[in-house]
Amino acid sequence: MKKQLTAQGKPFEFTPENLEKAAALIMRYPEGRQGSALVPLLDLAQRQTGGWLPQEAIEYVARYLGLSFMQGYEVASFYSMFNLSPVGKYFVQVCTTTPCQLRGAMDVLKACDDFMGGGFGVPQGQPSNNDGLFSVCEVECLGACVNGPVVQINDAYYEDLDSVKMTEILCMLKMGKTVDSGSQIGRQGSAPEGGPQVLKFDSDSTPNPDSEFTESIANMDTDIDVDKGRTL
Ligand code: FES
Repeated sequence: MKKQLTAQGKPFEFTPENLEKAAALIMRYPEGRQGSALVPLLDLAQRQTGGWLPQEAIEYVARYLGLSFMQGYEVASFYSMFNLSPVGKYFVQVCTTTPCQLRGAMDVLKACDDFMGGGFGVPQGQPSNNDGLFSVCEVECLGACVNGPVVQINDAYYEDLDSVKMTEILCMLKMGKTVDSGSQIGRQGSAPEGGPQVLKFDSDSTPNPDSEFTESIANMDTDIDVDKGRTL
């Protein structure tokens, strides 16, 4: 996806509070390796400017770390977590990689598009509707495939989505309401739908001798079938 560098037309510098945070972040890296703090400092700058990195912010962070502007720009333009032009208040990133797509990610994406009046297709970094509330874009795997389809809105993950749920979430946000993140079907963590099916241990972490799983393990024939190359 194209990321166009945009100048804000005014100088950027960290707020006093963010200067303190930046100093603490840099301390995590060995002497002489302060440049390694580039990603967290760009993230800090992006949060300060409301979700995007103007050219001035990249220049400032690079200079702050003793790097060239190009070194800062290379990193800022490489990672999808950084936006190089303004985004809406809610930055909606729809995962459309294969596992999510097999579970209906394209319906979720269409729901976003419909909600925003067909605004999807606006270049990334530009708010997708007139009020500037939402921006939407497709992204690659968000790392929560087991609960797909997954959408990231700002820092929160919304999982087990369908088009109806997605529209509801966008409506709620538009009305200024908060929406619980995580699984939208009540899934526990990444357990199977309906709850854990195996590895049901007692609270003292010892296997429950009466559980079906423990029984099946006890009865398991562990001979190796060499020809088939698997454990029976
Ligand atoms: S494929 Fe969507 S989170 Fe991994």
